[in-house]
Amino acid sequence: MTASAHSFSAHGSDQHPVVMVPHVNIHNFCDNQQTGEVLQQAAMDRRMGHAHVSIQLGGLAAAIQVYQHQPTPNVLVVETHAGREQLLAELGKLAEVCQPTTKVIIIGHVNDVILYRELMRQGISEYIVAPVSALHYIESIASLYKDPKSDPLGRIFAFVGSKGGVGSSTIAHNIAYRLSGKHSVETVITDLDLAFGTAGLNFNQDANGGMIEALGSPDRVDSTLIDRLLTKLGGKLSLLGGPCQVDREFAIEAHSMEIVLNALRRSVPCIVVDVPNVWAPWVRYTLINADEVIITATPELASLRNTKNIVDLLKQARPNDHLPRIILNQVGVPKRPEVSAADFAKAVGITPELVIPYDPMVFGTAQSNGQMLFEVGPKSKSAEQLDVLADILSGNNKTAPKSGKFNLNEIFQKLPSLRKK
Ligand SMILES: Nc1ncnc2c1ncn2[C@@H]1O[C@H](COP(=O)(O)OP(=O)(O)OP(=O)(O)O)[C@@H](O)[C@H]1O
Ligand SMILES: [Mg+2]
Repeated sequence: MTASAHSFSAHGSDQHPVVMVPHVNIHNFCDNQQTGEVLQQAAMDRRMGHAHVSIQLGGLAAAIQVYQHQPTPNVLVVETHAGREQLLAELGKLAEVCQPTTKVIIIGHVNDVILYRELMRQGISEYIVAPVSALHYIESIASLYKDPKSDPLGRIFAFVGSKGGVGSSTIAHNIAYRLSGKHSVETVITDLDLAFGTAGLNFNQDANGGMIEALGSPDRVDSTLIDRLLTKLGGKLSLLGGPCQVDREFAIEAHSMEIVLNALRRSVPCIVVDVPNVWAPWVRYTLINADEVIITATPELASLRNTKNIVDLLKQARPNDHLPRIILNQVGVPKRPEVSAADFAKAVGITPELVIPYDPMVFGTAQSNGQMLFEVGPKSKSAEQLDVLADILSGNNKTAPKSGKFNLNEIFQKLPSLRKK
């Protein structure tokens, strides 16, 4: 499989994942406090995890001073408030102390295309007009190291349940089915539940355990190996999963997961990762580094607490990314006291993107037939809801998750009957 179907990515800038910045030294010289704060925020971003970053004030003048006595880094970012003439003059001085291999990015306060062209002619790698955003800054640096001949990277959608059995896998598989079908995007389901995964069953296919081979020898993982390990599920959909057996134990390393997911990103435009309900370094890695995280939860207190904990972790670890999307599933189980969607939203701080009813007929039939909800109940509320999410994830109907107000204690106090159960 190649990345030739990357038309999926052409729906807007947030559909292009910003890639990791490689292991490089980046020195920043800001000319005002506000830029310094944004760059601090960028330096903490997950995509800058491999880079060594220093930030100081003083702008272009300070940079010229500092590099009289020390070699310039891989990337030098300097902010300046200077106008065209002064900027060009000062850059002449910087050029005298700057090594030829150093890539220079200017953050300027003059929005002038002629100046931009002049700077590019002089060998400046990028000119960013202030105010700069953290993501724009990261993207500018990452693109300095991007192979211009390579296809855009694929997007990773990580689906995780707030507790066991909430329906996360079923939803992940149906979304992958929809993305590869209706939206015609080459999609791989990566089932990380190596012993108990249900992706094979849900598509009526035997498991081949390809994921074990990939994770077991990460040094060998490339597009060719990935291609060989995939099980075709029909159309543009494939599966990379575990053997779904318990005859051996397998320890997954976060580092191996990083290699496999990055290889997948280079091979295919859409990767739906079915993350099991366990907590381990590689699960944390996968969620933090996905382009989108979709948490499926049932309307119960344990689900609510766990969702809130995952959301808080992700908010803190990925301040420059989309908020996780929340699906409230199995709503309306007869006789079960439930947390309302509104209370759930208030407690977690995010409005659920979808509310899917408890529908044992459609879900049960799909499961026993090895079919998708879209096949057994295309007109069902669940299929309709999942169609909306597939549209959003494909970029056809962008809606950012809405923030709600958080007060978990207040919600718990409102639900004494639930606490007692
Ligand atoms: N809305 C729903 N109505 C009725 N049944 C549902 C609904 N959602 C999921 N189910 C059923 O719940 C069961 C568990 O679903 P699934 O395996 O997708 O959950 P999971 O969160 O991935 O579980 P696990 O923790 O085992 O990975 C399945 O039998 C599925 O058909
Ligand atoms: Mg599952």
